[in-house]
Amino acid sequence: MIYQPLHPNGPTFSRIIAGAWRWHTVSQQGLERLIHTSLDNGITTFDHADIYGDHGNEKLFGDVLRMNPSLKKTMQLVSKCGIKFQSPHRPATWAKHYDTSKEHIVWSAENSLTQLNTDHLDLLLIHRPDPLMNPTEIAEAFSSLKHAGKVLHFGASNFTPAQFDNLQSYLSFPLVTNQIEISLFLPQPFFDGSLDNLMKHRATAMAWSPLGGGKFLTAENEIGSRVLNGLNLLAYKYQATPSQLLIAWLFRHPSQIFPVIGTTKPERIAESIKSLDITIDRQDWFEMLKWVTGVDVP
Ligand SMILES: NC(=O)c1ccc[n+]([C@@H]2O[C@H](COP(=O)([O-])OP(=O)(O)OC[C@H]3O[C@@H](n4cnc5c(N)ncnc54)[C@H](OP(=O)(O)O)[C@@H]3O)[C@@H](O)[C@H]2O)c1
Repeated sequence: MIYQPLHPNGPTFSRIIAGAWRWHTVSQQGLERLIHTSLDNGITTFDHADIYGDHGNEKLFGDVLRMNPSLKKTMQLVSKCGIKFQSPHRPATWAKHYDTSKEHIVWSAENSLTQLNTDHLDLLLIHRPDPLMNPTEIAEAFSSLKHAGKVLHFGASNFTPAQFDNLQSYLSFPLVTNQIEISLFLPQPFFDGSLDNLMKHRATAMAWSPLGGGKFLTAENEIGSRVLNGLNLLAYKYQATPSQLLIAWLFRHPSQIFPVIGTTKPERIAESIKSLDITIDRQDWFEMLKWVTGVDVP
């Protein structure tokens, strides 16, 4: 495994991060296996959000830490805040909305600490840009959490470059990441300035759904079958599986993308590691892009 800082003044994370979004779908024993398999393979960073599993995943993960307290020292925890939706667990919420008020950010981060059974988060992200977000309030919330030692670093998620720049301009410490969707199936961040802007800030992207959420890997649609055929041809050249090639395709970018993988299968966590050893040839990189766009670059 490779460990790298997200930013020169940011946290050091494993280059492959385990995402817990889908982890409520496995048993308690299955969850323990996912955590142990990740750690055994050097994946020490875990991506959470207050809302995952209808606000239940952080507690399921925290229960494992409660039973195995020594694990906490070996991992870095990321969480997110700011999305609210109707749920039996949130009876006061009657309309889906975003809430980036100071009060909610602080409450949500502290709640994540309780659920995860930890005394600090390594990184807290604003989950989605809120049309009503007030950067002064967000800065106050971040500063208060930082000074209390409850959150060590901060970032954004799904922000445009302009939204990222705006929030950054109100902070006296860096936003260390923008967690955005990037994959061969959603390559826009390579072209729309998202990755360039992060490089300008010396920050890095965390790529969510790096395998496109898996939906193309079953070849039940035109793009899926074109990509799978291509990946199967490249498999021999690189001695690699389709998933490994898709993750290696992200690693080829000089901005040092950190993929957040979402599998619920321990064997697929272990499989992902080899992608770190693969360097996709520049021409193959563009050929792979063409499988999805259907055309050569201009
Ligand atoms: N910031 C945000 O707004 C945001 C949004 C979405 C997600 N995220 C984060 O990103 C993480 C990853 O997202 P994701 O789960 O969509 O990532 P992903 O790794 O692209 O997709 C995972 C899905 O692909 C399936 N899959 C993996 N390998 C496969 C294969 N070889 N063939 C067929 N299916 C395969 C998995 O099924 P199995 O479980 O059966 O392997 C799982 O359903 C989440 O856990 C979360 O932490 C963040």
